[in-house]
Amino acid sequence: MTTRRSVITGLAASAATLPFATRGMAQTGTALQLEARTGKAHLLETGQPETPIWGYNGRVPGQEIRTPQGKPFAADLLNALPQPTTIHWHGIRIDNAMDGVANLTQAPVAANKTFAYRFTPPDAGTYWYHPHNRTWEQLARGLYGPFIVEEEKPPTVDQDLVLMFDDWRIGDDGAIDEASFGNFHDLSHSGRLGNILTVNGAFTHDVPVKAGQRVRLRLINAANARVISVGFGGHSPIVVALDGQPVDPFKPSGGEIQLAPAQRADVMLDCVQDVGSQSPILVDTGREKLEAGKIVYHPTERQRKTSLQSVTRLPANPMPTALDDSNPIVVELDMTGGARSWFESAMYRGKTYDVRTLAREHRKVWAFNGIAGMPDKPLTQIALGKTVHVRMRNGTAWPHAMHFHGHHVREIQHSKRAPLPHWRDTVYMAPDETITVAFHAHNPGKWMLHCHMLAHQAGGMGTWYEVG
Ligand code: C2O
Ligand code: CU
Repeated sequence: MTTRRSVITGLAASAATLPFATRGMAQTGTALQLEARTGKAHLLETGQPETPIWGYNGRVPGQEIRTPQGKPFAADLLNALPQPTTIHWHGIRIDNAMDGVANLTQAPVAANKTFAYRFTPPDAGTYWYHPHNRTWEQLARGLYGPFIVEEEKPPTVDQDLVLMFDDWRIGDDGAIDEASFGNFHDLSHSGRLGNILTVNGAFTHDVPVKAGQRVRLRLINAANARVISVGFGGHSPIVVALDGQPVDPFKPSGGEIQLAPAQRADVMLDCVQDVGSQSPILVDTGREKLEAGKIVYHPTERQRKTSLQSVTRLPANPMPTALDDSNPIVVELDMTGGARSWFESAMYRGKTYDVRTLAREHRKVWAFNGIAGMPDKPLTQIALGKTVHVRMRNGTAWPHAMHFHGHHVREIQHSKRAPLPHWRDTVYMAPDETITVAFHAHNPGKWMLHCHMLAHQAGGMGTWYEVG
């Protein structure tokens, strides 16, 4: 198996072998070439057939990108898919023009066309990249990869590894169940849930360690709809960052880290077990607990005998966190619809429809403030530098993963528990919960706000806000 790290350092060299490289790609000598195209992946157990996928450079996950904090990053998207696509750099406080949202921040990139993404990631942390056009289909087919922004002075660890989880719906023949794309049941219930869980594109993924090591694990949930909880057998992980942003280190309850779709966590795992031992990586899918791989200790070697220093907070990012709560802009976001909590009617593209007509003719079953799907006008227009409070009320019978583009947000009020102090780009909401989040509107542009359960987004749970 090639190691992902060695592939990354070979990027510039590999560009020449790509079919698009000859086609008017001037000044891209050092840009990473990401070709969205078909490929095959071995997602099922050994002995089972391969799965035709769509992937960046034909692989799933797409290559692990590592780039230094505060330095320009360049990637060229080459679209070799049969439909238009884009790349969204999820969680990065990016220039709006590079956010990759089809029909909001850029035109979708047609088949056989290219797009140059150029930006400087301001914050270190664990992010990811994926399409933002027909995301419900393109992501489910395998278009995603980890995007790691490295601290100038990272904490000392013995290994720094990504574990990227996905949930696929695959038939016995190994093929993705295409017939169910856009299926109305998924759209109106919990989204497209799968039947196969993978870690880094494999049915099981082992992590080799040595006794005494400290390993930084970057957990990413790339599933379309599945909320997962990840645990590490006899180990006690310490969370140091969520959605890329540092947090005061803490031990999650029960040693399990919950990740809604699109959420990430950086954890420090001290390998306190014996030389030669093994311990399962357990993923609770809400229905069952799966062994997704193992922590495999070297049979004879040990890293160190002395104990490690306690885990400290990661270096701060330059993200503005000062909130001026004296005069905030208050925005209400009323989330309605879906099975068992149908609305009677909602607006779609400026017209009001009853729920049956809307569902049948436009496949919209969810609404924000009574509007299904992307409105022409923003949810709110915010002057640069203002503090914003968004009061999100989940009036549906389903959980959601509310993702803010361009800004990270912090809970300031929660209807069921004390608000958490963490800065997140994706907020998990259970049915009936009301959560108020706050952020400092420092990043000008048109930013999406949507549910990252992608069938919900397609079914109406998407809006946008404008800053500046
Ligand atoms: Cu991860 Cu709007 O997307
Ligand atoms: Cu949702």
